[in-house]
Amino acid sequence: MGETICLIGFMGSGKTTVGEALAKKMGWNWVDLDAEIVKGEKNSIANIFAEKGEGYFRRLETQYLSKVLEEPKTIISTGGGVVVTPENIEMLVKNNTVYLNWEFDTLYERIASDKARPLVTSYEEVHARYKSRQVLYEAASKIRILCENKSVIQLVDEILEHIKIV
Ligand code: S3P
Repeated sequence: MGETICLIGFMGSGKTTVGEALAKKMGWNWVDLDAEIVKGEKNSIANIFAEKGEGYFRRLETQYLSKVLEEPKTIISTGGGVVVTPENIEMLVKNNTVYLNWEFDTLYERIASDKARPLVTSYEEVHARYKSRQVLYEAASKIRILCENKSVIQLVDEILEHIKIV
């Protein structure tokens, strides 16, 4: 197992932005799991969902996650649904996994008009998904960061404080 920090959380929680900033500050590599899948499969996430279905995407997600977890000194920004696959939770919990926890309304405002995210539907549906995933994010993570009203820099610093004592 490599030396990795994984960022998890719902769509719109800044896993990509915070991951990139954290990697820069630590001098580690940074990998965005969705971007790896897009690159490896030569297809967009929206197309993979539309052409092959969510189950197919989830299997790819597990394959790519297990591969990137072997990398040394790497920050991994995951996709929001990485925790719906129990096998992924088992892998994440063995690593330094950080849950970026935001209020639902903040997240929905950010993602509502994003056509690249196939699972963004009505407020009610996305809210139900958010609620059902809370327990999974908790189960998969060692560290939970309450993100509301904090800047990217503040979030990076807070993660670093926690990582020191893990
Ligand atoms: C998903 C989140 C997306 C992407 C896919 C499915 C989800 O990643 O992996 O659309 O199930 O929550 P982001 O969290 O980066 O949007």
